[in-house]
Amino acid sequence: MMLSIFEGSEGRLREAKIITRQTSDGRGTISFRNYIVEFPYSLKDKLGIGKLLAVNTIKENNYLILEIADIIPMHYGMISLDASVPREIRDEIMRKVEESWYSAEEREKWIDAITYPLGYILEINNENIVFKKGYFPPLLGSSVKILNKAVYTKFVCSNSNISLGNILNEDIRLNVDLEKAIRYHLGIFAFTGSGKSNLASLIVRKALDNLPNTKVVIFDVSMEYAILLLDKLIDIESKLISLDRISTNFLDAGRRFIRSHVIPDDIIDLKDKIRKSAEILYQKERMKQLYVPPQGLTFLTYGDIIDLIRKQIEDKYTAISQKPLLYTFLSKLDNFMRDRKLTSDDIVDESINQLLDEIETMGREAHLKDNSSLFTFIAGIRSYISLGIQETEDYDIEKLSIEILDPSENSPRLFIIELPNLEEGRQVVASIINQVYNRRKRMYSDNPKILFIIDEAQEFIPYDTKQKDKSEASSEAIEKLLRHGRKYHLHALISTQRLAYLNTNALQQLHTYFISTLPRPYDRQLLAETFGISDMLLDKTLELEPGQWLLVSFKSALPHDVPVFFSADNNLQLIREFLNKL
Ligand SMILES: Nc1ncnc2c1ncn2[C@@H]1O[C@H](COP(=O)(O)OP(=O)(O)OP(=O)(O)O)[C@@H](O)[C@H]1O
Ligand SMILES: [Mg+2]
Repeated sequence: MMLSIFEGSEGRLREAKIITRQTSDGRGTISFRNYIVEFPYSLKDKLGIGKLLAVNTIKENNYLILEIADIIPMHYGMISLDASVPREIRDEIMRKVEESWYSAEEREKWIDAITYPLGYILEINNENIVFKKGYFPPLLGSSVKILNKAVYTKFVCSNSNISLGNILNEDIRLNVDLEKAIRYHLGIFAFTGSGKSNLASLIVRKALDNLPNTKVVIFDVSMEYAILLLDKLIDIESKLISLDRISTNFLDAGRRFIRSHVIPDDIIDLKDKIRKSAEILYQKERMKQLYVPPQGLTFLTYGDIIDLIRKQIEDKYTAISQKPLLYTFLSKLDNFMRDRKLTSDDIVDESINQLLDEIETMGREAHLKDNSSLFTFIAGIRSYISLGIQETEDYDIEKLSIEILDPSENSPRLFIIELPNLEEGRQVVASIINQVYNRRKRMYSDNPKILFIIDEAQEFIPYDTKQKDKSEASSEAIEKLLRHGRKYHLHALISTQRLAYLNTNALQQLHTYFISTLPRPYDRQLLAETFGISDMLLDKTLELEPGQWLLVSFKSALPHDVPVFFSADNNLQLIREFLNKL
């Protein structure tokens, strides 16, 4: 029976270690348990990072699951060899050791696997195996078994047919529960050039292919996603949105597309086909200009008026005699809005005049001076209303939001919004998220679900927000999306190269993380602490190549919370195949 769970060969548990260090904020300490397992040297090729092992514990038939974080080839000859041994003898011993590494002689060498417990117990009862959360102390000296492929797959992979790539050191596809992963938000964290945008595009592609009720909105500051998802833009209903004027003919559109977009080196040879695809996009009328009112020109909303009145009440220079009137103004405004079912986002129009008349009359009865600030304020609102609000035909943020939320089958499912100008971009991101959020809140529905892709997230949710560069607005909107979006079926994928620059409130809302090389120890330590996984495992991310990832997920992408190293399918390869067929 054992054979159907474990591989034939096994090792032994030699040592338990507890490693304690300061937390990354320097305010406390954190400990990790490590177990050292000794394996025959002949197993060296079987024992990659991420292999799962099972060891006997003090409770019979209950095995503690260990994950290999590192392996070290050991040799008996080296154990007590230090500088106190005379030089010539040292040299002689090391020469012998060197010779023995490639020899078939196994007696004096072995593999030390440094492992750590995943927090799961494998319980074996007759023919049944169950994985359950928990920990029992393992027994030193006892045998350590390697989970076989079938059991590994059952434990690690989701029972879905959506795969993101191949598990490293295993011949197994990594299947994930993408719907659940999206529901609990995702994060991609890696140094520049590690493949963040590539992976984000792969995830978008899988969502569009497999989750029919999900739409995707990408905020693209680097002008790269239109190419990374060119096939999807053409094949499904989509919008490629820019703040710039759209070309007047397809040839110009193709030329401009090539000039303004980043073509990855790997597909630079296909430039002509990319241009041709852009021409098709233009002809299909997928390119759209988003109208954003010039800086500072925003419409006055009821929410703005409430804010302005509040500020006057709080202002110590407002005459005391006016304050009761300001409170009355607020409460009448509240009633006015309730009667008409207005929200704070609705734009003020002339229907408010009647309320302004009432307040003005009350001001006169209270003998306020003609030049009092209350009268000036009311006069200001009146003159704004008299300008009249221009309803335009332009494709603006309101129309875009309506289209994003449109549940009908032939409405666009992929929106790429190109925002090369960061400052303007932050404002647009904030407005779109807020509009979509508020509309969804008012007209609740679970269809469509919406995934927002926020690449270069440090620009939108920085640790230090500034009103001046609009990061305050974008940060607030994204934080709200991360905290409360799930209730409204609005979700986010956040991607960045440095965690330390990110608003940490945001970080705690994500349940699925893709991590690749993070060169700064601080970033890795922060993640190790957030997830309670070993520093050593995170340090291994330094060795990953572009496109290789450590996936860590909390009750979302995978059936159990097991960190997995995998090699993601290359999105550029998929684009290449598409372009070649064109
Ligand atoms: N899954 C993959 N398989 C093979 N190669 C990959 C993979 N992902 C990325 N690459 C390679 O790495 C390069 C950089 O990828 P990408 O632009 O996605 O990185 P990034 O992390 O988004 O970089 P930046 O920080 O500059 O935004 C790609 O052009 C490609 O050559
Ligand atoms: Mg990128």
